[in-house]
Amino acid sequence: MSDYYRNKINSKELITTFDDVLILPGYTKSYDVDIGVNMGKYHFNLPIMTAAMDTVTEEEMAIKMALLGGLGVIHRNCSYEKQLDMCISVKRARSFVIQDVATINVDATVKEAKYHMEEAGISGVVVINNENKACGIFTKRDIPYREHEIRNGKVKDYMTTDIISIEPGASREQALAMLFKNRIEKLPIISDGYLKGLITIKDLKPEFPNASIDNEGRLLCALAISPQFPETSQVRKILQKIDQYVDIFFTDVADFYKQKDFEGTKKLMKFLDSNFVLGNIGTYEAAEHILTKAGFPEDKLIGIKVGMGSGSICSTSIQTGVGAPTIYATAQVADAINDYNPDISLIADGGFKNPGDLPKSFSVGADLIMSGHFFAGCTESPGYIDTIQGRKVKVYRGMGSKEARKLGGKYIADRYVEEAKSLPEGVSDYVPYVGPLAGVVESLKEGLSNGMIYAGAQNINEMKRVKIGLVSPVGLAEQKPHDLMGKY
Ligand code: IMP
Repeated sequence: MSDYYRNKINSKELITTFDDVLILPGYTKSYDVDIGVNMGKYHFNLPIMTAAMDTVTEEEMAIKMALLGGLGVIHRNCSYEKQLDMCISVKRARSFVIQDVATINVDATVKEAKYHMEEAGISGVVVINNENKACGIFTKRDIPYREHEIRNGKVKDYMTTDIISIEPGASREQALAMLFKNRIEKLPIISDGYLKGLITIKDLKPEFPNASIDNEGRLLCALAISPQFPETSQVRKILQKIDQYVDIFFTDVADFYKQKDFEGTKKLMKFLDSNFVLGNIGTYEAAEHILTKAGFPEDKLIGIKVGMGSGSICSTSIQTGVGAPTIYATAQVADAINDYNPDISLIADGGFKNPGDLPKSFSVGADLIMSGHFFAGCTESPGYIDTIQGRKVKVYRGMGSKEARKLGGKYIADRYVEEAKSLPEGVSDYVPYVGPLAGVVESLKEGLSNGMIYAGAQNINEMKRVKIGLVSPVGLAEQKPHDLMGKY
């Protein structure tokens, strides 16, 4: 008598989700917790990412998220030209290197220089000779006080010729040391006599000390990408341009565990310089395949993103019967990463409802988390604030919803099963407007930090070692406010 199918059901492990688990309290040595993490060569003071969705992350969200120490992954439901513009905006939003430096020709008059500085609202300009090389600095302090000297004088007679400069690629710390040593406020970047940029003391003192930055002090930029290698040279050309502004590409498909996606992505990883996060996947086997058999270039691969079917706007699991809820997928892939390449970071994506779900993800091996649901209602998300029955709301839609496919359609057809035309895998709805991102991030940080304190972990690595338990349905009901007369 065969027991194949009965065993298939009876011997299976439980596919758990956030509400199924609870972290057990641990011994708290200190209230000092560090939530910072590394992914590849990048450091994040906030282990949180905003989802690559067209109602969540465009340049405004990406900039603010990076300023707050996390990362916003720009969506791909639009033209490559628009993606390029958004990435340029992120990279230009904040830098300690000014690229468009105000200059003046050595033969200009003092009067012209004075006008130029007043027009641009700056206190000094770099002087350029006729070979296009930097030959001096002229500042407001060099303007003679006698009127006729201003009228007739030449910049070259009043400028400082002894330029204190720094080489391209200097770090923030090197620049700060040089500015301090010479008691100056501006430092031209010069290579072989040619002006390459300018560093000012003002730009070195950031308003956002936790920002996620590259080695030039520019904000980190991440973009969703199709795993298919572009067929036309025109698209390949613009992708190469985009590559110059992006630090990390995120392959953006519901299920990445596909031969076709592996082959396309391998070509992309060879063609583009930036790092890659691959996803989404949901099982140990998929991660094992990626890490041991698929042949992805090791220097490019820095992370794997997991979770399938948990998203608040997602209907993949009910439409197709397939899924790997985020907590389950995280534990599965974390084990494979431990076994085959502990340098790879794990991003738990989707399904987060409460701040307390963050510590739960870290407790089963995540390094960072990604959410759309927490952020779609923020001021910085794309779209307008609407009012429904007196409540302020914003639209939040799945990238597989009819609405998202209708508008951008062709751009994200390969996010799901490409030939599928009529079966949506996501929905579109309203979420409450929740105000500026900073407030939402603050609550999430508090939930995470307090969870770590209760659990007795002082950093994310310690958090991965805390104990968890399974919750019974009765226990789950008890976790929430209950037996009250009011709205709960
Ligand atoms: P949420 O934060 O729970 O709403 O989940 C967001 C995540 O759901 C995203 O980061 C994507 O991985 C995933 N997702 C986005 N759109 C869809 C969809 O239409 N169907 C299924 N999953 C989606």
